[in-house]
Amino acid sequence: MIPPTFIDELLARTDIVEIIESRVALKKTGQNFSGLCPFHQEKSPSFSVSQEKQFYYCFGCQASGSALKFLMEFDRMDFLSAVESLASRLGLAVPNDASSEDREAVEQRKLIFDTLTDAKDFYKQQLRSSPQRARAVDYLKQRGLTGEVANRFEIGFAPPGWQNLLALKPDSSSYLSRLLDAGLVVTQDAEAKRYDRFRDRVMFPIRDLRGRTIAFGGRVIGDGKPKYLNSPETAVFHKGRELYGLFEARRSQKKLSRLLVVEGYMDVVALAQNQIEFAVATLGTATSDEHIQRMFRQVSEIIFCFDGDAAGRRAAWKAMLTVLPHLSDGRSARFMFLPDGDDPDSLVRRVGQAAFLAQLAASHSVSDWLFEKLAQDLKENGLDPTGIAGKAALSKDAMPLINLMPEGVFRQLMIDALSQNTGLSTQRLQDVTVKYDSSFESAGQDARPRYDEVPAEVQDTQAPEMLINASLDPALSLLILQPELALEFQVEAFECLTRGDQDQLLRTIASDVHAGSLSSPGEILAKFSGKPEQGFLKKAFEYKPLLSTEHLKDEFIGLMKSKFKRYNQQDGRAQIDALLQKPPSQLSEDERGLIRQYFSKASAGDDPSLIP
Ligand code: UTP
Ligand code: MN
Repeated sequence: MIPPTFIDELLARTDIVEIIESRVALKKTGQNFSGLCPFHQEKSPSFSVSQEKQFYYCFGCQASGSALKFLMEFDRMDFLSAVESLASRLGLAVPNDASSEDREAVEQRKLIFDTLTDAKDFYKQQLRSSPQRARAVDYLKQRGLTGEVANRFEIGFAPPGWQNLLALKPDSSSYLSRLLDAGLVVTQDAEAKRYDRFRDRVMFPIRDLRGRTIAFGGRVIGDGKPKYLNSPETAVFHKGRELYGLFEARRSQKKLSRLLVVEGYMDVVALAQNQIEFAVATLGTATSDEHIQRMFRQVSEIIFCFDGDAAGRRAAWKAMLTVLPHLSDGRSARFMFLPDGDDPDSLVRRVGQAAFLAQLAASHSVSDWLFEKLAQDLKENGLDPTGIAGKAALSKDAMPLINLMPEGVFRQLMIDALSQNTGLSTQRLQDVTVKYDSSFESAGQDARPRYDEVPAEVQDTQAPEMLINASLDPALSLLILQPELALEFQVEAFECLTRGDQDQLLRTIASDVHAGSLSSPGEILAKFSGKPEQGFLKKAFEYKPLLSTEHLKDEFIGLMKSKFKRYNQQDGRAQIDALLQKPPSQLSEDERGLIRQYFSKASAGDDPSLIP
């Protein structure tokens, strides 16, 4: 909407040094200015601003850009706000190509924003100065909140009384209609009676990403109905889209990487009070597609938090179905279930930050929970998910869900996991796919497993057909698909693998797994992405193991044992050959020992000390 020429002009007339200097201490160093980088922690300055190029750059973290980019990153503004901010410094109006109708709507929205902001400021001020403030203040204290956190969320107090907002500007003729548009005043009896919507409540302003107040949630103080009163939908507030706390979460952390989705206002605030500053709440609705899109624009991981009861599990399953289509590579979701009777607010207050984060870390991954839930459903229908019919039903139920996911490694890994769970080849799994239809939404209640046709492959699962890619070492393949297999041997065992690209890659991966720096196929892919080894890795993902997990382990151990034996023999033989070249008189006592040992040893390979 903004003409590029205007942006150019804006940047031309703005001095980046002035913009940054007012936020970061800068010192002139030669041509440039430098200071401590605001985008990462550092002790000596590696952040540099070039006046000549109107550009900033950090040698430490590579953050870089123009004045606009700086405002967006440092002040956490979106593009439009950053443009507006630069323009208003220069006294310029931001031109746009909008029609006059649009312009009117923009003007109208601006009036609503102003009205909501005034109301927010009024409520905040009432929490400090209203004669009735004590009840609200006591209530917040009793819920464990400090003034600092209340301030950060701009929590306020709507005092008792029907005309508090209306009375603020008695002389303004348009004020009433603005209050109505903003949803702050309610009309009754054919417009005869008008009164404040929020009375005698603790007020939680809901803010958009730019920090503008767009609505309120008002909590009754103590008991009473309704417990929470929310703003109605207005021109600036659409309930199913907004996330309470997103603005605050984004502002609180330099680099927000994950978001925890909870149910209530107080959950978000209580978590923040306990230094867990990445929680957001849907406003009494289920997590929508739009919510998820919004979150994945900010972070790469979403953790959903649910009650541990049946209703919570139903809600979690809905969230699973909503999030699957968004799980492209690099994104992830987790599912956290709370102890019975707890919500995040009560839990974090009871166990504290560390224990809460530990529970969060132990939450279910998408694949864990997907397979666990489907297996549970089967059991409830009297089917054993590990039996032949159960496996067939599991694959039929799971494939359509997996097919909701976008193409990519993550999706492939889910198929592999299913393949390992069921013993069906991935090709066979693709064949049983039925297209996703909405009846899956209710899979929680009435999953009807279809086990009429049992694929032939389930019946003869144990066909030891391991390798589809003849060019790829099967041991390497297995290790890539299941890195923890490396732990079946001690790390020293892999050190002999010095010949050939595949064996060297195998050794590297195994030692990284032992060192704890690699633990999943995804991490292996990430580590070698763009490197020559990538080719082997890709091949491993085309590889379709037909064996169950246990058999894969046995297979891997067997393959590795014979590999170690080969190396041991070859290495031993080469060393002995070299010794035999020497004149016997020049051999040391040790070398003589080696030769004797070599010829007396029946099998040089199977060294049991290397197998834990
Ligand atoms: P809960 O009833 O679980 O309340 O509602 P809570 O968040 O634990 O509230 P506290 O701890 O008693 O203060 C969860 C969310 O559902 C919406 C609100 O967004 C609330 O935070 N809700 C609930 C309403 O909109 N209206 C209500 O009357 C109740
Ligand atoms: Mn609660």
